[in-house]
Amino acid sequence: MAILYTHDIVPTLDACLRDKKYDRIFLLDDTVTHVHCLPLLSTWVEERGVEVLTMEAGDVAKNLDTLSSIWQQLTEKGASRHSLLINLGGGVVTDLGGFAAATFKRGIDFINIPTTLLSMVDAAVGGKTGINFAGLKNEIGAFRSAVDVIVDTTFLRTLDNENICSGYAEMLKHALLHNAAMWAEHLEQDLQHPDYEALARLVQQSIEVKERIVGEDPHEKGLRKALNLGHTFGHAFESLALSQGRPVLHGYAVAWGIVCELYLSSVLLGFPSAHFHPTVRFIRETYGQFSFTCKDYDRLLDYIRHDKKNVGGQTNFTLLAGIGQIRLDCHANRNLICEAFDFLREG
Ligand code: GLY
Repeated sequence: MAILYTHDIVPTLDACLRDKKYDRIFLLDDTVTHVHCLPLLSTWVEERGVEVLTMEAGDVAKNLDTLSSIWQQLTEKGASRHSLLINLGGGVVTDLGGFAAATFKRGIDFINIPTTLLSMVDAAVGGKTGINFAGLKNEIGAFRSAVDVIVDTTFLRTLDNENICSGYAEMLKHALLHNAAMWAEHLEQDLQHPDYEALARLVQQSIEVKERIVGEDPHEKGLRKALNLGHTFGHAFESLALSQGRPVLHGYAVAWGIVCELYLSSVLLGFPSAHFHPTVRFIRETYGQFSFTCKDYDRLLDYIRHDKKNVGGQTNFTLLAGIGQIRLDCHANRNLICEAFDFLREG
């Protein structure tokens, strides 16, 4: 898989296709990227005779019905084993399109063109594809890498501030997993007034951190679990908010999850306070507070217990003994988890 950074997608796509012999090219977008992003490619799409498939936007569409409709359209429009699918969109499009490609005729090539910050630094890279099923997120899926990922940070200028902040939580996570210099640079950014040039540079660094980890452990047998930092608590916050009819963006839940998991890290592993407090301050200022009460604790503990990354009934956390000092499969008891909730609430 190659990651290509560009501000000019069309020649980059042409370069990707130069030595390839695809019989047909399909492009999957959603109702939002169809309007805001596809126009950048419309001449190329027409000239190349690319067939555009458009799905509904949003996580609600990341399901078996949408997937089935993509398979159906690929079949009806004559896709073969030698066809290519280009996924143009955020994480839902790259995950679902990647899975459609991974399964169609036992697998066809696909290229991801992520259009959100979250998909640039996380979803589009690393080969996880899939859909939600039976009320569970990403329950059905496969590991299959895009042949190329084309990253054009110009798309970031089309995003609202909340979506910038959401993707940035995954970048902060990568910085915490990497080193103190990268972490410090991330804490300097003012996301209310993004410096897009600095952001583009940090996006590249972030993707490189993820690529290195995935390169060592593509199927999440060991090191890749590091990428779950902030996510065990984060998924619980996301599920609670969703069940209460007030969904929160994934990255916000991850940021609050990072606060709780760094709290566990400081108690259990001595994560230094000189790194703990500035991180917590940055997250509070950028992401605000997650509103919940102690009446929600049992429900949150339940979500944490049922996280699909747990093995043999044990809740596994990725924690840090320091920035870049990753500790996998750590355990915390109920009291300590509740203390972390208290810490997050009390501010
Ligand atoms: N989003 C975490 C991973 O790709 O493993």
